[in-house]
Amino acid sequence: MSWWRNASIYQVYLRSFADGNGDGVGDLAGLRTKLPHIASLGFDAIWLNPWYPSPLADGGYDVADYRDIEPVFGTLADAEELIADAHGLGIRIIIDLVPNHCSDQHPWFRNGLWDRFHVRDTEDLPNDWKSRFGGPAWSRLPDGRWYLHLYAAEQPDFNWENPVVEQEFEDILRFWLDRGVDGFRIDVADGLVKDFGKPDADLPYSDQDGVHEIYRKWRKIVDSYDGERILVGEMWLPDPVRFARYLRPDEMHSAFNFDFLCCPWNAGELRGVVDSTLAAHEPVGAPPTWVLSNHDVTRHVTRYGREKTGFSFADRQHGAPTDFELGTRRARAAIMLTAALPGGVYVYQGEELGLWEVEDLPDELREDPVWHRSGFTDRGRDGCRVPLPWSSQDGPSWLPQPENWHRFSVEAQADDPDSMLSLYRQVFARRREIDGALEWLDLGEDVLAFRRNSHTCVVNLSDRPIDLPAAPALTSIPLTGGQLPPDAAAWLF
Ligand code: GLC
Repeated sequence: MSWWRNASIYQVYLRSFADGNGDGVGDLAGLRTKLPHIASLGFDAIWLNPWYPSPLADGGYDVADYRDIEPVFGTLADAEELIADAHGLGIRIIIDLVPNHCSDQHPWFRNGLWDRFHVRDTEDLPNDWKSRFGGPAWSRLPDGRWYLHLYAAEQPDFNWENPVVEQEFEDILRFWLDRGVDGFRIDVADGLVKDFGKPDADLPYSDQDGVHEIYRKWRKIVDSYDGERILVGEMWLPDPVRFARYLRPDEMHSAFNFDFLCCPWNAGELRGVVDSTLAAHEPVGAPPTWVLSNHDVTRHVTRYGREKTGFSFADRQHGAPTDFELGTRRARAAIMLTAALPGGVYVYQGEELGLWEVEDLPDELREDPVWHRSGFTDRGRDGCRVPLPWSSQDGPSWLPQPENWHRFSVEAQADDPDSMLSLYRQVFARRREIDGALEWLDLGEDVLAFRRNSHTCVVNLSDRPIDLPAAPALTSIPLTGGQLPPDAAAWLF
């Protein structure tokens, strides 16, 4: 079977992963020293958030040069060595490609090559489109004309109707494929084609039919390289059937399943998402993926400890009361559910340590443009981007760690058999033994249970302990009186 059909992929937010030179910012040198950590957890690949030269107006999603490495992170030579080291450990490298927009410091924008962007010469705002980070999606150039930015003003959108843009990205793909990367995570993959005749309410900058042509061309390029290189899409789309169109055999290989990420901790709703995911993927023959957290959303230990356990950008519930013990217990069960499902799994750095959303960062340290663009109403995404604790010796970092994080460090958890880290190690080691189609089992109300060949996964979302059909091989927390407690999961082989 192709590696990407059931891959376990670890997401590295480079800036906050491991600091190799002590400047408080994660870098490639740091990541290289920690590759054994990722390999020992049993991951097949790493997805790195953008590593290109960038003013970091949006954490690197504002790219100034698509063919180099941000100096704070290292050099192109470091990147090549990282790829070689990772390959030596059997780990593939997926990089982030940002084709919807660049930085306002990109040479095309600085040099005024306006036909490569969306520029309008109107008195008032050209239309009512809103930036996804708040405020209008248009800002003025120094000469008074408007340019489009679906995100921050520092992120002008490319004009994909101009063939020069298309040509440029095909070259960029080849540039990195030639350097050995194994795939691309495509940022805002649904957004490249726009219908300017329509109002904001119709979302005319998302999921326009023309966008698929782009991925058909890209698929041919990645397929022309050896080693099964892949395209992974980031599309936040409401309709799983529209979503699956990106995964037709001549388009992308897979995409992030945000329905699962957003789903509340509820047996019926989770089962509904699993079923609709499988049903939407089946006709196109693409593997589903399962993801609980990433660099844009509230960490799931925090979400699962709240009254409202789902995720929505519209309301992050910043500061809502949180029961961390409950959130942690559910997070332990959730990874056993996630890892048992058919398809690919993404793990966001730090979830293997049970890290939570840091909600008490001083406002003046916040860097996410969402904070100021929302008129200081949405505290944004910095709270899930606080650098990882490695040991009790960690130096200061660009976003400060909570004082007690040294107790959650890799060093502190490594030898503790009951730690989140030890659970992840066992889950991802044993995940390799699971295969076959999913078949639901009925173990009672509010219990999710399914079989895949000889493996059974049981998740107790009810409020009472339940009996298991046989002795489990792995549980998220110890059984009580031979029964699986609430908010716990078990694997039976
Ligand atoms: C994606 C990224 C997010 C970024 C945005 C704009 O949603 O995941 O971090 O801010 O695109 O590039």
